[in-house]
Amino acid sequence: MAPQRVQAKGVTPPLGLPGPTLGSAPGSPGRSSNLRSPMSAQPILRLRGVSKRFGGVTALDAVDTEVVTGTITSLIGPNGAGKTTVFNIVTGALRADAGSVSFDGQEISRMAGFEIARRGVARTFQNLRPFPTMNVLENVLVSSLYRGSFNLALAMLPLFREALAMQNARAESEALLKLTQLYERRFDTPVELPYGSQRRLEIARGLALQPRLLLLDEPFSGMTPTEAADLASLLLRLKADGLTLFLIEHNMNVVMDVSDHIVVLNFGRKIAEGPPRDIQRDPRVKEAYLGE
Ligand SMILES: Nc1ncnc2c1ncn2[C@@H]1O[C@H](COP(=O)(O)OP(=O)(O)O)[C@@H](O)[C@H]1O
Ligand SMILES: [Mg+2]
Repeated sequence: MAPQRVQAKGVTPPLGLPGPTLGSAPGSPGRSSNLRSPMSAQPILRLRGVSKRFGGVTALDAVDTEVVTGTITSLIGPNGAGKTTVFNIVTGALRADAGSVSFDGQEISRMAGFEIARRGVARTFQNLRPFPTMNVLENVLVSSLYRGSFNLALAMLPLFREALAMQNARAESEALLKLTQLYERRFDTPVELPYGSQRRLEIARGLALQPRLLLLDEPFSGMTPTEAADLASLLLRLKADGLTLFLIEHNMNVVMDVSDHIVVLNFGRKIAEGPPRDIQRDPRVKEAYLGE
């Protein structure tokens, strides 16, 4: 059983959508997401013929794949299969040697990372990267304020409005900490948190950017079964709130439980994709894992 927490459902803002989330529509907490248009089969992210070499290593070999809006899509495969390289290319940390990447119908493969982030793509890293000397709340605030800095007008605002922006960022960060069950630890530094909580902090920081697509690189690694179950519920909650998730994960039980669609890489090539039930039975997938 998960520990009893203050649920604070009424103050949780709708997630994944830009725009004012706080201090508005107190009469309809949690209902607004139901009013959004139903899930369409539109891909929010599309990779076509994406290749990447590192010296003599072909990390990705003409990979085609899509992430459909409103889904949890998982990218799986043995170590070294090229999964993190896909995320690095999507976020602009690396440039593909060939192929195209489009987000929301727009080509992003030549864009800088900050431009891609501004369009609504956020990520977490396989290795944790919090600011070690800041507390938990400040770590989330930084992301929230960073998003604000995308707005050039903000730089020119008079002081009192700047203070208001800070106040909003703080309220928003606190709401995210409640959602990720970190609110009671907000004044601790990240290293003081158990591992599972540090991973949720990374997610809170990603969410503070108000992305439309969140990339999670092995968020369940090193978690206890209880922490993993909590995180799986959080991911499903985020999906229900309208966020699209692209997940790299080794924990097969979790992948099968939360994914709508699974893409399998092996040695830089896509060897299978489909719903969890099909992937579980796919002989190519079994072979790739047994051969590891
Ligand atoms: N920056 C890099 N420089 C050189 N080789 C890299 C780099 N990033 C990844 N690789 C290589 O590319 C392959 C795919 O790596 P990666 O995408 O990290 O795999 P995965 O995340 O599936 O474990 C591996 O052989 C890895 O060693
Ligand atoms: Mg990796």
